[in-house]
Amino acid sequence: MQKLVIQGGNDLSGSIKINGAKNSVVALLPAAVLSDEETIIYNVPNITDVTVLKQIIRLLNGKITEEESILKIDSRNIKNTVIPEELSNKLRASYYFMGALLSKYKHVEIYFPGGCNFGARQIDLHLKGFESLGATVKVENDKFIIEAEKLVGNKICLNFASVGATINLMLAAVKAEGTTFIYNAAQEPEIVNVATFLNNMGAKIMGAGTSTIKIIGVEKLGSAMIEVIPDRIEAGTYIIAGALLGKNLKITNIIPDHVASLLAKLTEMGVKYQLEKSEIILNKCQNLKPIDIKTQVYPGYPTDLAQPICVLLAHANGISHVEETIYEKRMGHVKYLNDMGANIEINENKEIITGPTKFHGTEVVASDLRAGATLFLAALTAKEKTIITNIEYILRGYENIVKKLSNVGANIHIEEIE
Ligand code: EPU
Repeated sequence: MQKLVIQGGNDLSGSIKINGAKNSVVALLPAAVLSDEETIIYNVPNITDVTVLKQIIRLLNGKITEEESILKIDSRNIKNTVIPEELSNKLRASYYFMGALLSKYKHVEIYFPGGCNFGARQIDLHLKGFESLGATVKVENDKFIIEAEKLVGNKICLNFASVGATINLMLAAVKAEGTTFIYNAAQEPEIVNVATFLNNMGAKIMGAGTSTIKIIGVEKLGSAMIEVIPDRIEAGTYIIAGALLGKNLKITNIIPDHVASLLAKLTEMGVKYQLEKSEIILNKCQNLKPIDIKTQVYPGYPTDLAQPICVLLAHANGISHVEETIYEKRMGHVKYLNDMGANIEINENKEIITGPTKFHGTEVVASDLRAGATLFLAALTAKEKTIITNIEYILRGYENIVKKLSNVGANIHIEEIE
């Protein structure tokens, strides 16, 4: 067990390079299993979710060779094995093996997925979609058994534009007989990244990135390469750090379109930045205006940045509101931000944030991944020392956080908890 120790108050200057997107790579790795040959994934982030997915692929007899951030996955000798609970429950994205293995072998056995606890995180849309393609779904002692004699393309309309369901159904449909349409598909950039990888293998997926995806089934998927897109949520977290503490802080390897909703909200707050083709330079903003934010599916304001921006809103002069619409409860950060001096009230799915706040250091707990990010942002602004425990969550999604932040002037380190 480890804890993150931050002595806040330092300006941040220099540059932070954004790594490959967690929410893309966690789908690209299961997608690689669909190939009958070798695939190569570039720009793979060194995060613990990737470590677990590699363990699952090795359990399935996939051969992985690694060289820095490049992974070669040889799927020629994959064996369709039950994915045990101790691996499946380490992360949400283990559920992408449902779509991938069902597609390739017409049979998959996997225990419930894990991931951050935001209340009910149903996967009914995934399962109903598999059934529309001809599969049957059984649940026995927390294990899903999903099988089909054959998968046949169909028209599927999602009740909610779910990222997970859209990707899982693309995986399941790529080798189905005939054509599948996914209506009300999620449009997040990660979906385009996964569709591109599958198309590079020989799949026929059209419309990824729009609300209607068309998939013409193919018989075989072969070798392919893909580069993981930059992580828009990691980028957003450090962009917020720049608005709080930047002194010409440069964030590189970003795709500006992917962080456009965040940048629009920062502009509304009065933050000034210099945006280039793939980087942004920020300086700390002294007179922040309070604003209202409502989370939405892409290209709306992302739920994953609703927690981190609370730190900036807490520094604003007046009352801001954040309304969470994607998850039932994603407010684990509020108690600890208040312990650090914030004035945040919760009213159902809304946070009412009254600023300005001067954060002070104390001992806090990362209750989930982005709550952890929120706490390290607050800690960076506090004059005293903050200790964050439960940092396993943070390490699931932020590569080299200590190195990246100390390189730009933060006083931060990890200590072992005895
Ligand atoms: N939902 C259903 N039924 C389903 C699927 C989803 O009701 O079958 C509901 C969920 O209960 C939830 C909402 O729809 O309330 C969003 O679910 P979605 O499927 O879109 O999200 P996800 O696939 O579980 C991914 C990311 C999340 C990110 C969301 C939204 C991965 C592994 N996770 O989750 O990332 O918040 O999309 O953009 O890709 C994070 O990175 O911190 C994170 C939580």
